[in-house]
Amino acid sequence: MSEPRDSPYPELKKTHTMAHAGRPWTDYKPPPSAPVWAAIEGLGRYYVLLAAIELDVFDTLQQTGPAEIDQLSLAIGAPADHLRSLLDGVVALGLLDQVNDVYELNDTAKRYLVSDGPATMADLIAVAPGPHENWTRLAETVRQGRPATPIEDDPAAFYIPLVEGTFTTMYRCAMRADIKIRYSAMRAPRVLDLGAGGAPWAISILHHNDAATAVVNDLPEVLDVARRKAEEHEVIDRIEFLPGDFHSIDIEPDEYDIVVLGHVCRTEGAEGAQHLIARAFDALRPEGRLILADYFTDPERKANPHAVLMGTTMMASTVKGFTFTHQQFSEWIRAAGFTALRLIEPIGFQQQFVATKPRSPSQPQQHRS
Ligand SMILES: C[S@@+](CC[C@H](N)C(=O)[O-])C[C@H]1O[C@@H](n2cnc3c(N)ncnc32)[C@H](O)[C@@H]1O
Repeated sequence: MSEPRDSPYPELKKTHTMAHAGRPWTDYKPPPSAPVWAAIEGLGRYYVLLAAIELDVFDTLQQTGPAEIDQLSLAIGAPADHLRSLLDGVVALGLLDQVNDVYELNDTAKRYLVSDGPATMADLIAVAPGPHENWTRLAETVRQGRPATPIEDDPAAFYIPLVEGTFTTMYRCAMRADIKIRYSAMRAPRVLDLGAGGAPWAISILHHNDAATAVVNDLPEVLDVARRKAEEHEVIDRIEFLPGDFHSIDIEPDEYDIVVLGHVCRTEGAEGAQHLIARAFDALRPEGRLILADYFTDPERKANPHAVLMGTTMMASTVKGFTFTHQQFSEWIRAAGFTALRLIEPIGFQQQFVATKPRSPSQPQQHRS
C-alpha cells in the first residue's frame, strides 16, 4: 500500500489535480456556487422570518427576556424541537442572538421586529413581497407579460395591510424629511397627498406645522386607514378625505403648496407615472413643491439590488409596475415643468425627489391633464 499523501482527500487530489489529469496548468478557478445557494435559501430565509413573526417569537422574547427553549416552547405553545429549529434559523439570519442555549433579542430585532419597536416592520413582512402565490407563477407571468392575478383585481385587499405595514417607516422618513424640506417653516401650507395610504406624509407635515391643512386621496376602502392614523395622531380635523382614482379625481389647479406622490408611481408604468407628475404640477401653486418618493434604480439597473428587486416584485404582481431610474424620473419631472430638482434620502433606502413649480412655468412638454 502506498503512503498516504499529504492531503485531507488523497483520492480526490490524485485524480483532480491538473498534474494528474494531464491537463495544462491554468489559473482558472471555478466560481463558487454560493450565489445559487443564496437564491435557493432566500425562500427559506423569508419563511423562517415570517413564521417567527406569526408565532410572536420577537414579542414573546421581549416579554420573557433572554430565555431557553423550554420556557419559549411553553410561552409560544409549540413543541421545543420544532421551535428550536426555527429559532436557530432566525439566529442564522442574524435576527436573534443565542448564547449557551439562551435566546435573546438583538438590536435589529428590538428595532425592526418587535411589534412596538421604534421602526417596526413586523406588519410589513407578510405583505411586502406581494401575494406569495404570484412568485410561484413568475415564469408564466414573464411569458404572458402580466400576472394571472394582479393586485389591481382587488387593490384594497392588498393595499390595506400594506399601508398599515409601511406606515411606521414612511412616517419616520417624512418626519425626518422636514430637515431638508422645512415644511415646519412654511406659512399655513396646503398639502395634497395622492395615493396616501395611511397618509404618513400628510400627517407628518401637519405635525410639523400647526397651520397646515391637507387633502388626502386614496381608494375609498384604503382611506379608512388614513382616517384611523389621522385620528391616532390627532390631526384629523385638518384633513379633508378625497376618495377615488388619482388619475381621474377632480383636483383644484394652482391650489397646493405641497403635492406628495409617495410610492405611487412604480405601479403605474412610465405613462401613468408621468400623468401623476403632470397632475401634481397642475395642482401646485407657483413655488409649490412636489415630493416624489419611490425606489429608483441606477442607469444600468444593477448597482442597487433593493430597487432592482422591487421592480421585479412589481412585475410579479401588477399589470404595469416596474421601477425606473433616477434619470428617467428627473427627465419626467423636468419635462412637466418643474425646476430646482433635488434628491434627498432622509432615512436609509428611502429617497425622494423634491422639485419646485416655477413662478412662470416653462411650457410643460407632455401629459398635461
Ligand atoms: C405603496 S402605497 C403608498 C402609500 C403612501 N403614499 C406611502 O408613501 O406610504 C400605494 C397607495 O396608492 C394607492 N392607490 C393605488 N392605485 C390608486 C389609484 N388609482 N387611485 C388612488 N390611490 C391609489 C393604494 O391604495 C396605496 O394606498
